[in-house]
Amino acid sequence: MEMGRLLYEGKSKKVFETSDPDRVVVRFTDEATAFNAKKRATVAHKARVNCAISVRLFREVEQAGVRHHVVEQRSETDLLCERVEIIPVEVVVRNVVAGSFARRYGLTDGQPLHRPVLEWFYKSDALDDPLVGDDAVVCLGWAAEWELQFMREAALTVNQVLTAFWAEHGIDLVDAKYEFGRQNGRLLLADELTPDGSRLWEQGTGRPFDKDVFRKDLADLSETYRELLGRITGG
Ligand code: C5P
Repeated sequence: MEMGRLLYEGKSKKVFETSDPDRVVVRFTDEATAFNAKKRATVAHKARVNCAISVRLFREVEQAGVRHHVVEQRSETDLLCERVEIIPVEVVVRNVVAGSFARRYGLTDGQPLHRPVLEWFYKSDALDDPLVGDDAVVCLGWAAEWELQFMREAALTVNQVLTAFWAEHGIDLVDAKYEFGRQNGRLLLADELTPDGSRLWEQGTGRPFDKDVFRKDLADLSETYRELLGRITGG
């Protein structure tokens, strides 16, 4: 399959057309950004590590029956994916208090939640991805009622599967962000499943293995991500 023109350039990904109008190539890059791209860096090996982690995690969720956009891995950094229209609503599922949830409600990081909390955020760099309610999402036409219901159920399933997966590797899935896309009237889990879009804390120590390492300058991100990949591949 031929690679076509660049369709979209994200903060740490590029998406290319292919000769098949229903498929794209998603290329991971070594770029890291935080705080709506106000902080940026190039992180050695990040593209191949996040690509490998994403492929591994999409395989896990597939086994649980969640349909997703990945067709196959093309190279160390490239995934052939179904072409979807991304729903402009990010789905965040939280198991432990952290990040914007802690700030919004005046809580301390690390408090466990007795059930997962699901939140919607409107994807808008100009507005810094604000929290939104179901009614606004539907009323403003960002997603249909059935799509919200589908995304809620699928995201909670993914959260369950990935919580169990990471626990097997001694890591707590604190929270994560998921994105969905439309293709021919159906919804697919899209985007990426990586430590860029999740909080992953080592059990027992609370050591973060995610992008907070970069946001807060806690350690070397490249080494941290490589260690994380090593834990799930046994390398
Ligand atoms: O910042 P906040 O606590 O709302 O983030 C919740 C989770 O969603 C974190 O794992 C974070 O990495 C992820 N997230 C993301 N992209 C955003 C906002 C949050 O991947 N634009």
